[in-house]
Formats: sequence, structure tokens, C-alpha cells
Amino acid sequence: MSDKAKLVLGDKTIELPVFTGTEGEKAIDITKLRAETGYVTLDSGYMNTGACTSAITFLDGEQGILKYRGYSIEEIAEKSSFLEASYLVFYGKLPTATELKTFEDRIAAFDDVPEGIKTMIKAFPKDAHPMAVLSANMVSLSAFHHDLCAQDLTPPQKDQAIAQLMGQLKVMAAYAFRHSQGKDFVKSDRSLDYCSDFIHMMTGNKNVKKEVAKALDVLLILHVDHEQNCSTSSVRLVGSSKANIFATISAGVDALWGPLHGGANQAVLEMLEEIKGSGKSYQQFLDEVKDKNSSSRLMGFGHRVYKNFDPRAKIIKKACDSVLATLGAQDSLLDIAKGLEEVALKDEYFVSRKLYPNVDFYSGIIYRALGIPTNMFTVMFAMGRLPGWLAQWKEMVEQPGFKICRPRQIYTGDTKNTYKDLKSR
Ligand code: ACO
Repeated sequence: MSDKAKLVLGDKTIELPVFTGTEGEKAIDITKLRAETGYVTLDSGYMNTGACTSAITFLDGEQGILKYRGYSIEEIAEKSSFLEASYLVFYGKLPTATELKTFEDRIAAFDDVPEGIKTMIKAFPKDAHPMAVLSANMVSLSAFHHDLCAQDLTPPQKDQAIAQLMGQLKVMAAYAFRHSQGKDFVKSDRSLDYCSDFIHMMTGNKNVKKEVAKALDVLLILHVDHEQNCSTSSVRLVGSSKANIFATISAGVDALWGPLHGGANQAVLEMLEEIKGSGKSYQQFLDEVKDKNSSSRLMGFGHRVYKNFDPRAKIIKKACDSVLATLGAQDSLLDIAKGLEEVALKDEYFVSRKLYPNVDFYSGIIYRALGIPTNMFTVMFAMGRLPGWLAQWKEMVEQPGFKICRPRQIYTGDTKNTYKDLKSR
């Protein structure tokens, strides 16, 4: 097949290069399109737009494949730790034992936040959503760490930014939670692993069950990166203006919060609770979400890229059963989720639109079993996705030919209005 695409515009034909990725995906390179033809492309919601090249994550939505740096998500979830997977996405290779230990120690060293940030957390109302607290605190860190706010960070500064944000986001998430409970902050304990320390900082209990820490670790691994999703694209967009790293990551937190993205994990739990409380049958509920006059959706179902099972959902569904069994817990919401999934997967509406459970459908049930409250679910997602945001930002700023992201539009408004002064309008 030719490595050029031909575009016919009236009596003019131009050739556009075809770019082929390492997994064989093909893209028409339109870099010169506007210069040569005066046309731009129109692609609402970026359904067909490759906004960048990236060597971090590959996903094939038709086959249900997800890989970090060439390693399958199944293998990483089974064999790696969250911090090892984070190192992999940042630095492009699995660390040696020494590299991993150094990396873990560097992150653990950022075990607190400036006093001003603690004061800010305490100034929020107790019922503030922890994502609001996280976003505000993330951007506010820039006021305390001027060294990392330079336009172009040196390689050691980038390494520091990575370790610092990985350490401090965990601290801010735990502190935000403690504040919402009206409880004092719990100081980090460096002798604990990342997930055990986080649970310790939330609960005040240092004796975290191995199985609980492991389950949380796997959940975080599954969220590490997912190529150009809404929050990652926001990080790239904001970071492309050379906004500082704290502002850049805060933009990711904000985009993630929406219920069509990371906020879906909270929305799923609320939906399952609603079904339980209302006594509606699964079919009745599904009929409601299928009704085009209703704005509700089956939360945790559907994905822009996966048109087959989300591989992360498969792993989580399995983990759900084993976590509940290990903890000796039972959750009627898990039965509702399974029942709902079974009926939806037989329903023509969901089948024909290729709507399957996504990562958020079952993750909340595990968080609940681990004792993490519903309004913290999206914060957990942010903790898991932070390495992806940082890795994608690092890759972008290090790419030759790096440019500010600035899409075009097609104007459809009025073309010539006559101005009338205030009195005559
Ligand atoms: N429930 C009911 N109908 C749905 C759902 C759903 N969850 N998802 C998609 N549809 C329908 C749409 O109404 C549309 O139907 P139509 O063709 O008759 O108009 C069709 O399926 C295609 O849906 P789009 O919204 O065009 O698909 P898009 O790729 O833009 O959206 C999204 C993907 C946002 C994830 C969507 O499936 C959704 O809203 N899901 C529920 C929220 C959710 O779980 N989000 C988490 C996604 S994963 C993540 O971000 C971590």
C-alpha cells in the first residue's frame, strides 16, 4: 500500500504522507494541509484526530489490548507494583532493583506539604469535594516551589517534579480526606510502601493488611496511563503553553473530575445505590437510560476507544471477587452490578453500540471494600493517573519540534452586524 494519501479538492490533488505507528496504526499526516490548500480538518470531539505521537501507551479498542511501553496491562498488573509501573512510563524501561529502591525513596522523601497548603486544606468546608481540594492545592504548590516553575526544567528538575508530585499528591489526598472527616492529619510513615502509607494516612492505622494494600496497588496500576484521554489531553494542552508543572497537573485533575471521565467511578456507585433503593428491575433501569429523552446513562459503560471489553474492567471484575473473599466482605452492590451487566450485555441497544463495562464499572466496589468512601473514588483515580500525566508532559516537552497546542475552528456566527447604541437596542 502507498505511504501517501491523495486528497482531491476540486481540480487540485495533493498528496499527504501516511504515518505508520509501531503497532501498525496508520494516520494521514495533515501538517501541511492548511498551508497547501487553505483547508483545515473538522473533527468534533477529536473522534479521528491523533493529536501527537507517543511511545508510552498503546491501546487497541477493537481487540481490547492495553500496553504500557510494550508490556501488557495483564502482566504489569500481575507482576509489577504501582511505583514500578510509574517508573516504566516515566523512563521507558523497567527499573533494576537499585533504580526502583532509589525511585521509591525519592518519592517517600516528599512525605509532607508546606504549612500554607495544610492551612488551605483546613480552610475548605468539611463537605467540599476532595477533587476541589486536590485541584486547588495542586496549583497552589506552585506558590511554594518556585524552583519548579521555570519555563524549561532541567532533567534533574524534571526528576524532582516527578518524585515530588508523586509524594505530595498522596499526602494532599489523605489530608483532604482527614479534613472532610473532621480529623487531624496523620503524618506519613516512610517505612511503609506507597499504598500502605496512603491507607495509614487516611485511617491512622499502620497495620494495613497486605491484601488491602495489594488490591489498591493493582487498581492504581490499571489507571497509570491511557494515552490521549480527556485529562491527559488537558495536561498536554495546558503544559504546551509552558504553564508550570503544578498548574499543568491541576488541569488534569479538573478534567478527570467530570462524570463522563474519572468522575464516573463515583457516579457508578451512586447509580447502584439508586437501583438498590428504588427497587427497579435491571431492565426497567436500562430502559430509562436508553430513553433518548432522559439525560441519564448507564455509568461505567461505554468508551470512546474500547469497542470490545475494556481489559482493565476484566482485571477489576476478577479482583472484585477475590478482594471481597479475602476481606470476608459481602456487597450487595456487586450483585447489582453483575446483574445489570448481564442484562445490558444481552440488550440490543448496548450490543449494537458496542457498549461494554469500562474501568469504572467495578472499581468503586473494590474501593468500598477497602474502606474508601465514595467521594474519594475520583481522587484515587487521580493518584493512579498522575504518572501518566507526568510521563506524557515529560514526553511532550522533550519532543523535537514541540509546539503550543492550538486547534483551529470553523466560524459559524454572524458575519456582519450593525452596532446600535444601548438606548436603541
Ligand atoms: N449509557 C447509555 N447510552 C450510551 C452510553 C451509556 N453509558 N454510552 C454511550 N451511549 C450511547 C449514546 O447515547 C450514543 O447513542 P446514539 O448513537 O443512539 O446517539 C452512542 O452510545 C454513542 O455514544 P457517544 O456518547 O457518542 O460515545 P462517546 O465515545 O462520545 O462517549 C463515553 C464515550 C463518554 C465514555 C460514553 O460511553 C459515556 O458517557 N459513558 C458513561 C460514562 C462513563 O462511564 N465514563 C467513563 C469512561 S472511561 C474513563 O474515562 C475512565
